Amino acid sequence: MIYYKTADEIELLRKSNMLVARTHGELAKIIAPGVSTLKLDKLALEFIRDNGGEPAFLNYQGYPNTLCVSVNSTVVHGIPSNYELKDGDIVSVDCGVLMNKYYGDSAYTYLVGEVRPEIVKLLQVTKESLYKGIEKAVEGNRLGDVSYAVQQHCESNGYSVVREMVGHGVGRKLHEKPEVPNYGRRGSGIKLKKGLVIAIEPMINMGKKEIYQLEDGWTIKTKDGMPSAHFEHTIAIGQGKADILSSFEFVEEVLKNK
Ligand code: MF3
Ligand code: CO
Repeated sequence: MIYYKTADEIELLRKSNMLVARTHGELAKIIAPGVSTLKLDKLALEFIRDNGGEPAFLNYQGYPNTLCVSVNSTVVHGIPSNYELKDGDIVSVDCGVLMNKYYGDSAYTYLVGEVRPEIVKLLQVTKESLYKGIEKAVEGNRLGDVSYAVQQHCESNGYSVVREMVGHGVGRKLHEKPEVPNYGRRGSGIKLKKGLVIAIEPMINMGKKEIYQLEDGWTIKTKDGMPSAHFEHTIAIGQGKADILSSFEFVEEVLKNK
């Protein structure tokens, strides 16, 4: 069952997603060589609680932390640890918040120090593909139009789309229907209607699409060991343009002055 949200519910979802956005802004300030991924996790937990939220991922199906922190060939669901980020790494940080009974969910892949240009391009194209998908997330289109736009942009740049993991509806639950794949056919899938809130989250590999899971039951890595990027926004379908409820504005304000 798909839950369509009222205007008031969308404002609550916006609040939760804005706390996620501000948390990312705080993380952007400290991401640098030598910082452990667990330190990012601690900062996020503290910042979320100080601002009236609860971390959404902590204890979700037994997940042990606030953030998913996925370095280099880790695609998603990397568990924070004492690993220290090093020059040339990329790190996907996925953050979720529960506040006033509604969830926020957004991910950003950060550069650590000086990163090889071909990897910088992977991040750029992945982020662009998210916005290409969002452009298609308008009333009257179908979900497959969003999926196709993401896939088309990534594959035309020579990258591959992870199949096993997908975006999702967001609301009073972190993961609601519908599933939002990053691959698909134009004109397929459900019709997009006002009040539908979804997280679009391309997970894009520089090499082949195949992945595997570590023994920890969470960490997802590329089979070929090549880097993977991940960007995620939570958005509401409206008339005309999609309403992006999360935001990269805080992150990008910090990064441009770095
Ligand atoms: N943003 C991820 C997702 O949408 C978060 C799930 S991680 C988990 O699937 F730890 F909470 F499971
Ligand atoms: Co998500």
